[in-house]
Amino acid sequence: MRLFPFFSSLGLLLVMIISNGLDSPEPRLRSMANFPVGVAVSPQRLAQTDYAQIAGSEFSSITAENVMKPQYSWAAEREYDFSAGDSVVAFAENHNQQVHGHTLVWHMMQPKWLRESIDSYDSATLENLLRDYIHSVVKHYRGKVVSWDVVNEAIAAEGDGMRNSVYRQKLGDDYVARCHQYAREADPDVLLFYNDYSVATNPEKLKTILTMVDDFQARGIPIDGVGMQMHIGLDLSLDNFQYALDEIVKRNLKIHLSEVDIRTNPEGTAGMLTEEAAQQQQELMAEIVRLYQQIPEQNKFAITFWGLRDNESWLTQNTGNPQWPLLFDDNFSKKPMYQGFLDGLETGQTKLN
Ligand code: XIL
Repeated sequence: MRLFPFFSSLGLLLVMIISNGLDSPEPRLRSMANFPVGVAVSPQRLAQTDYAQIAGSEFSSITAENVMKPQYSWAAEREYDFSAGDSVVAFAENHNQQVHGHTLVWHMMQPKWLRESIDSYDSATLENLLRDYIHSVVKHYRGKVVSWDVVNEAIAAEGDGMRNSVYRQKLGDDYVARCHQYAREADPDVLLFYNDYSVATNPEKLKTILTMVDDFQARGIPIDGVGMQMHIGLDLSLDNFQYALDEIVKRNLKIHLSEVDIRTNPEGTAGMLTEEAAQQQQELMAEIVRLYQQIPEQNKFAITFWGLRDNESWLTQNTGNPQWPLLFDDNFSKKPMYQGFLDGLETGQTKLN
């Protein structure tokens, strides 16, 4: 009888240990990595409880997938609407996250009024409007975003020169440099990135980007980093990836793996993510993180995923098929790719030590 209190407190202790074990926080990406880990979000998704919980706890950096693009914030000539972008910034502030601004100038996703009138503007009018836009947006978010993609995808798809966008046609090849200067005028501290795709897969495109960067640096045009979008497939050449990292590091710039997703359905024939593809995706994720981990600290900016869950990836629409390219499945469960990220942190760290 006298033993009863002992056993009952032992029982209580066991219950506490077990329930504590269940409650004990699992490792989160944001606490495991020694660089920011980001996710692209929308205000609509952040309004969902489960979604917000994971976006807020796993990640330390936020990019607006769309709402900081001109289509959303450029309401009319010299009129701006920051409401949607502000809601993303407020979420990040509440969760102690940094915000990466995406993007000031892009030939895509422009507001309808601009698409309809842009051809009728002469060069000076367009330049003045664009300068006012960049000044206003960058000033509005000053102190709230740490960085901007200034011009997105200004190099031609094939990589052999400037993209012949309406901006290039009207403002000349050097408009990218001037956009960087306008952004710098509006915020002396914000980090300025050039962001593009196929940086790690198309050596000619990388060369064109590096030539532009070298020219900026020679002329004192402000640039702090390069965003490698990393919309990649399982066939990514790690040698090419490593080469791109090395070349950007040589130029003393920060590197943002800015829009990571890994396609797993190149033929479009798969009805589900097979175990084999999930494992390949895990291994590739690990290799990418390992190589990123091994660049010097001062060159690491962040790794950002272009969405949270597979079913919300832009690629389903863009490729016409599900690609299962992200860290979480449709039910918010971590995929092997998530483990791949952790694996890469660990192997990268071991080599660093
Ligand atoms: C995509 C978004 O994910 C989609 O929701 C939108 O419909 C189109 O734009 N490169 C970029 C991103 O820099 O802004 C693009 O985002 C994907 C390709």
